[in-house]
Amino acid sequence: MTEEQQLQAIKDFSYQKMKKDTSGHNFDHIQRVVKTAKRLLNEEPANKLITLAAAYLHDVADDKLVSDPKELDLEIQKFLQTLGLTSDQIEKILFITRNLSFSKSLENRQKLSLEGQIVQDADRLDAIGAIGITRAIYYGGKHAETIYDPDILPRKNLNKAEYRNLSNETIINHFYEKLLKLTDMMNTPTAKKIAQARHQYMIDFLKEFKNEWNAER
Ligand code: ADP
Ligand code: NI
Repeated sequence: MTEEQQLQAIKDFSYQKMKKDTSGHNFDHIQRVVKTAKRLLNEEPANKLITLAAAYLHDVADDKLVSDPKELDLEIQKFLQTLGLTSDQIEKILFITRNLSFSKSLENRQKLSLEGQIVQDADRLDAIGAIGITRAIYYGGKHAETIYDPDILPRKNLNKAEYRNLSNETIINHFYEKLLKLTDMMNTPTAKKIAQARHQYMIDFLKEFKNEWNAER
């Protein structure tokens, strides 16, 4: 199999796994992450197959999306073996998919490879800006979060369990608890640059939201 054929098969596998998601992690999210990862690959000396495979697979075994992440992790491993990837390549891809997420970084932060840093940046860029705003509202709606309550203050120094506990969460607080922090957390210079404008867009959105809430306009 050529690398192109391997990537096509990985894309098809990801599509089958992600197409039914209704929490903002649908295959369109995956395609945007892949597209951004390609853009970042142009600027960084990283391995293309590892980066794009991890981009396609990064949410397939996510513990908030599937009931048994370990089972999916094993399924990915077996699937990659059938494509003839080496065990070294498979290990590198799985290390990324296991350690990429924001929630993972709250409990045990692992140093990612350059390929992992690129996929993490691409995933984080999709969580901010206009698309990030839409996804937060979509996710918050699905989990019956309150939209906004000025009396509920954003939580600080969250661990993973607290981050996933949505009982006192508001959609607007999610911006302060996570989304506005992502720009400073970008790994690559190109992602940092792209993040600036998206960050400002969220600041403007929050300002306008609060103005309207307080009926000042
Ligand atoms: P990761 O997969 O990196 O751990 P998350 O699960 O935190 O990322 O987030 C995935 C998407 O869901 C992001 O777009 C994020 O903003 C959104 N999201 C996560 N938690 C919340 C929340 N409590 N309220 C609103 N949106 C959320
Ligand atoms: Ni993702």
